[in-house]
Amino acid sequence: MAFRALVTDRGDDGTISNTIMELDEESLPQGDVLVGIEWAGFNYKDGMVLAGEGGLVRQYPHVGGVDFAGRVIESADGRYRPGEGVVLTGWRVGEWHWGGFATRARVKADWLVPLPETLSTRDAMVLGTAGLTAMLAVNRLEAEGITPESGPVLVTGAGGGVGSIATQLLSRLGYSVDAMSGRAELAEDLKALGAANVVGRDVLAPSPKKLLATRWAGAIDSVGGAPLGELLKQMQPGGCVAAVGLAAGDGWDASVVPFILRGVTLAGIDSVMQPFAARVAAWDRLTELFDRTLYERMVSEAGLADLPAVGSDILAGRIRGRVVSNPGA
Ligand SMILES: NC(=O)c1ccc[n+]([C@@H]2O[C@H](COP(=O)([O-])OP(=O)(O)OC[C@H]3O[C@@H](n4cnc5c(N)ncnc54)[C@H](OP(=O)(O)O)[C@@H]3O)[C@@H](O)[C@H]2O)c1
Repeated sequence: MAFRALVTDRGDDGTISNTIMELDEESLPQGDVLVGIEWAGFNYKDGMVLAGEGGLVRQYPHVGGVDFAGRVIESADGRYRPGEGVVLTGWRVGEWHWGGFATRARVKADWLVPLPETLSTRDAMVLGTAGLTAMLAVNRLEAEGITPESGPVLVTGAGGGVGSIATQLLSRLGYSVDAMSGRAELAEDLKALGAANVVGRDVLAPSPKKLLATRWAGAIDSVGGAPLGELLKQMQPGGCVAAVGLAAGDGWDASVVPFILRGVTLAGIDSVMQPFAARVAAWDRLTELFDRTLYERMVSEAGLADLPAVGSDILAGRIRGRVVSNPGA
């Protein structure tokens, strides 16, 4: 049976191309569950894959898409039956293994989670890797003892996928959220999601000092790089930063001073290799906390043919919230 896919290829001269093609199911990689994809999400990493950046893809031609939701078509694994809704995020799908920018995927059953009962496949992809990551980051702040009473929490990259969902989840839990965005035009949207304050990127402007006045009890950081170094200097004693991303870079001029003088914790979040039980628990909590009606203002839809342009936009920090794609439309 034929299926439709956005195929990413690399020419002999290194040029990357993205072309919509009809492929035969036989060309799909090995796996025990064949899924008919209804919706795929679009993540920062997808932008990198479609641009050939970061060495994420092992073999070309490739089909990107690090998360998708759909229905089982065939399964050689007893846990899944035809017609059941499933969600996939991470496990290097869309990087090492063909992913969600197609109407079909064949994957390992171990990588899937059942579609939560109260979510549609589109809802699941509005959340996608970004939502799962935001939930894991919130869980981690709580595990480190950061409560709404501890003080305000900063979310960086708040206009993006992880940041905007984190803003909504934290606010729903009663935290006072300072949403940091480089885009002043998103202030109204971020306040609608529950941000108490919208602050500019200048709050993390470079400073030669090793410590600054304390400001936040917790933070969820999508941007990494030099701003993360500045954030650590402004954390309250005993505060915790959940480090999620690297939109501003993967390194900074580090100092141990915030750790040893203020007991600050820097907690890494990895959504990709989370075990099944942790994923299911995070999805369950998302179904309780995430307000899809409220969040819809941050969602846009794109066709497969539009995804390379969406990729350029996400790498340039121009995407508002989440982009979802129905690969069959
Ligand atoms: N650890 C994990 O498991 C995991 C999972 C998902 C994503 N990630 C990573 O998390 C990050 C965010 O992912 P995403 O899907 O939310 O991407 P996204 O939608 O593009 O959001 C990133 C946001 O960061 C801000 N930003 C971009 N460039 C910046 C810069 N140079 N300085 C300061 N802020 C900048 C922008 O927000 P404003 O315009 O509002 O400032 C942008 O919207 C990415 O690095 C991604 O790779 C990690």
